[in-house]
Amino acid sequence: MFLKIAPITIFFSFVVVAFMDPISAGKPHIINFRSPNLYPESVSWDPSAQHFVVGSLRHRTLHSVSDAAIVDTLVFDPNLPPNSTILGVTVDNYRRRLLAAVNSIPPLPAFSALAAYDLRSPDRRRLFLTPLRDPAADSAPDKDHPVANDVTVDFSGNAFVTNSAGNFIWKVTPDGEASVFSASPAFTAHPVDRDQKYSFCGINGVVYVSKGYLLAVQTNTGKMFKVNAEDGTARTVLLNKDLTFADGIAVRSDGVVVVVSHQKAYFIKSDDSWSEGVVFDETALEAERFATSVAVGGGDRVYVLYGHVDEGQWGNGVRETFSIVEIESEKEQKEDTVWIYVLIGLGFAYFCVWRFQMRQLVTNMNKKTA
Ligand SMILES: *[C@@H]1O[C@H](CO)[C@@H](O)[C@H](O)[C@H]1NC(C)=O
Repeated sequence: MFLKIAPITIFFSFVVVAFMDPISAGKPHIINFRSPNLYPESVSWDPSAQHFVVGSLRHRTLHSVSDAAIVDTLVFDPNLPPNSTILGVTVDNYRRRLLAAVNSIPPLPAFSALAAYDLRSPDRRRLFLTPLRDPAADSAPDKDHPVANDVTVDFSGNAFVTNSAGNFIWKVTPDGEASVFSASPAFTAHPVDRDQKYSFCGINGVVYVSKGYLLAVQTNTGKMFKVNAEDGTARTVLLNKDLTFADGIAVRSDGVVVVVSHQKAYFIKSDDSWSEGVVFDETALEAERFATSVAVGGGDRVYVLYGHVDEGQWGNGVRETFSIVEIESEKEQKEDTVWIYVLIGLGFAYFCVWRFQMRQLVTNMNKKTA
């Protein structure tokens, strides 16, 4: 009896395992959430609360967005300058803090800061609001005001914030002490085409990689940098192509890095800790919905935020619905499919061998009894 059941069971387990992965993965996940005039520029995933957190344009607010598209206001901070914008947001899961890069965009008076809010307190109490300054812009009035664009956090609670106007990175300690952390010559080593769109936007998306460095991308050159998270020294990562209009960046737990522009998502990997990297796939995005940010959510899935920021920045937008949409690398999907067929093939081969052996066994037994 056992002999008979075992191979069949094994064969069917092969089939089930092979099919379970794509079935559970299903279609890419789409979250359309309603929040009039929000125009969020950034998205982050809160692994403890199992929801996304998004910033907002001119609302001084941070919101959670659930899988079921339920929107909640996490923070409304009336002490921020009126109509200020939250451009970057990240969740410090170890300290249960929300870190938000705050800016006043023209024509409002210039203001850039990092705000931290306590996710353990019921009203998400503000822990600090640290102004972020560009010492060079302070002394030279014709220089661009800083723009605190994106933020990431290390395991000790240090935040790293990119200044996309001044091309450097601030560090803000867990107590809220700010300093210019990395103004590497690498950040200004690549030519910028001043006639191009977004030529004003330098260092932008930034992510902390657990091995002690940051990866940052630069919008107006399409370059990626590896920044030592201890001393701020930086090098350009050698890539097989430029990441045109690079904006948001996120890293999956398997080490694959995804960079988004409003036009596409770049899937990039490296086997030497980001001295070099390879763009192994590009996924087209819906350019008119203007993706600006990418996050790795539950199950290591990659999501982009369609925030329509280009439409909202002039202050006369009337949009009510925004989206967080799962994206996939088609190449990776294909590789998965190949594995499924290999598994089914192996299972079937095993089944045939067993059938053959059984037949021989039966023949032998018949011979003996005859
Ligand atoms: C803030 O925005 C509101 C609504 O758009 C506007 O009426 C108000 O004048 C703005 N305040 C400042 C200080 O710009």
